[in-house]
Formats: sequence, C-alpha cells, structure tokens
Amino acid sequence: MTAEQPLVLGIETSCDETGVGIVRGETLLVDAVASSVDDHARFGGVVPEVASRAHLEEMVPTIERACREAGVTLGDLDAISVTAGPGLAGSLMVGVASAKALALSLGVPLYGVNHLASHVAVDIVEHGPLPEPTMALLVSGGHSSLLLVPDVTSDIRSLGSTIDDAAGEAFDKVARVLGLPFPGGPYIDRAAREGQVVIDFPRGLTTGRDMERHRFDFSFSGLKTAVSRWVQAREAAGEPVPVNDVAASFQEAVVDVLTRKAVLACREQGAQHLQIGGGVAANSRLRAMAQSRCDDAGIELRVPRPGLCTDNGAMVAALGAQMVLKGRDASRLDLPADSSMPVTQISA
Ligand code: KG4
Ligand code: ZN
Repeated sequence: MTAEQPLVLGIETSCDETGVGIVRGETLLVDAVASSVDDHARFGGVVPEVASRAHLEEMVPTIERACREAGVTLGDLDAISVTAGPGLAGSLMVGVASAKALALSLGVPLYGVNHLASHVAVDIVEHGPLPEPTMALLVSGGHSSLLLVPDVTSDIRSLGSTIDDAAGEAFDKVARVLGLPFPGGPYIDRAAREGQVVIDFPRGLTTGRDMERHRFDFSFSGLKTAVSRWVQAREAAGEPVPVNDVAASFQEAVVDVLTRKAVLACREQGAQHLQIGGGVAANSRLRAMAQSRCDDAGIELRVPRPGLCTDNGAMVAALGAQMVLKGRDASRLDLPADSSMPVTQISA
C-alpha cells in the first residue's frame, strides 16, 4: 500500500467497547479495543452510565496504544472518523467529542458515520473491496437487520429488521434463563456443541401471512418466551433441565431463521454475496449453516474474523477511509451524536 492512501483513525463508543482502529486505505494497521463488559456482567446487561464512564477513562490510553502499535503519530493522520449513531447516547457523546477535539486540533476532516454501515465496511479490510451490491446480515446485541448495500458510502437499503428483540439480546436472555453468564452468546454456543437439537422451538415470522407482511423482518421474543416456558415446565415437574440440549435447540431456531431469510433476500434481490457482521456472527453454528446454505445457493459468503464482528474501532476507520477514497463530504464539526440514527443514513 502506498503512502498516498489516506491514513484514518476511527473511534467507536456506541455501546461498551472503546474501540480505536487505524486504517491506511484498505489495509488495517491496528485495532485497539478496551471493553467494559466485565463491569456489566453482574447486572446481566450493559449499564449505560457505567459504559460512558469507562469510555471516558479508556479513550486517551486507547488512542495512544493504537498509534504506538501502528507506528504512527497523530500528526500523520489524514482524517478522523467516529460512530455518530445509533447507540447509547452518553457513550456516543464521549466518542464524538473526542473525535471533534482530534479533528479540530489536527486540522483534518471529521467523518461521523453510522455504526451499522461500519459493521458492513469492516469486511473491506478483511476480504477486500465489497462487491456491489452486497447483502448484509447484521446481528448483534442491539440489532438484527438485513441490508442491501449497493454502495457502503452512499446507498444502504433496509429490507427488514427485528420487530422486538435483537438476535444477540435473545441469546443473552435465554442464557440467563439457563443460568449461564452474561453476555450469553458465547456460552450458549459452547453449551450447544455438547447438546442435541431435540426440541422444536418456534421460528418467528417464517410462515403464511407473516412472510407476506414481514418477509425480511425477524422476531425473537416469542422464541425466548417458548424457551422460558419449556424450562419452567421442567422445573415445575421436578426434572433436571438439559441445558446443552435447550441451548442447541434454541440456537438452531435462531440460526435457521437468520440464514433462511438472508439467502432468500440474496435470491430475490439478485445479490451474489452475503456478508454477516455483528457480535452474533461469531456464532459457530451460524457460520456453518450460512456456509452450507450459501454453497447450495451459489452465493459467496463473507464473514470477518470474530474480533472484527464485535464492536471495534477498525470498522469505523474502514468506513472513514472509504468516505475519503470515494470523495464523500466530511461532517461538520458541530455534528451531533444521534442515538437513533437510521441505517439508511450513512454519515452525519
Ligand atoms: O456487536 P456486539 O459486540 O455489540 C453490539 O453492538 O451489541 O454484539 C454483542 C452480542 C451479544 O449479545 C453476545 O451475546 C453476542 O453478540 N455474541 C454471540 C456470540 N458471541 C457474541 N452470540 C451467539 N454466539 C456467539 N458465539
Ligand atoms: Zn455493533
């Protein structure tokens, strides 16, 4: 990669990860992440005030660590990008204020970008330029969306999203029912490997009229309730709960719906590439089922490595660098943090 490629530092603080990534063009130099997830574990979910405070404490050390590990100085940077939304308001504000201070003091442009678009863009530094269009399935603790992406810097179309719980939220809630720690996704994934798919849990919004009205939407709250009821019935009967089997059966239901709708969306929209991102993309069963269904349908599957699927700064830097490369307008220095930024709005 030549020195003419823009050197971009990206800041991510939408939830509980303080992420600082540095990208040169389409090459990732460093991805520094400080997570406050352990501080939230005893509450069984992310506590916004605790997260904002942790971002404040971690921001400067994480920026310093990123520059040190990438072997660059702040003065070398060509642009700053930052998650402007969606996410937790107080957490976003810490990142946006830090990015403004950096951009202003360094005299470089600032790009306030969409967190969800960044989850898509990160695959560029992992697998190269995004085919246009790409279908993206974003599944995290906060989001479950199917997106058609003709151009990640200017045109993202939402085909559907969850109408209640996000996929990761369902994993976390079911884990709690099963007595597994927070965040529950990785624990369910592990338990499921020791279990069998023996319970036929419901697949929300996959049949009849639901497929007309909510073709590419998801619903996981009915599934979560079904698991709770199943476990309660066992306990009421004084029988042991087969945690591994429940985990495997629940996971199968989630993964079946996600991959079925994603492949259908690719077929109907003529997309030959499916990218999966967000924390739930780390799920081993999701990766395996998506691979086999994409193989059957002749679709190329792109999934970044797990560390780039969960929230990180590299994804924000990756999108920022694309904005620079494609000559998109920079944001104004008074750009707001927008906790409910719609996915179709790529930059602020
Ligand atoms: O993208 P992410 O780090 O943060 C959000 O933007 O939410 O995603 C976190 C979510 C959590 O709900 C976590 O349980 C889930 O991703 N997760 C997983 C796995 N690893 C993380 N879910 C299922 N299987 C996994 N292996
Ligand atoms: Zn995320």
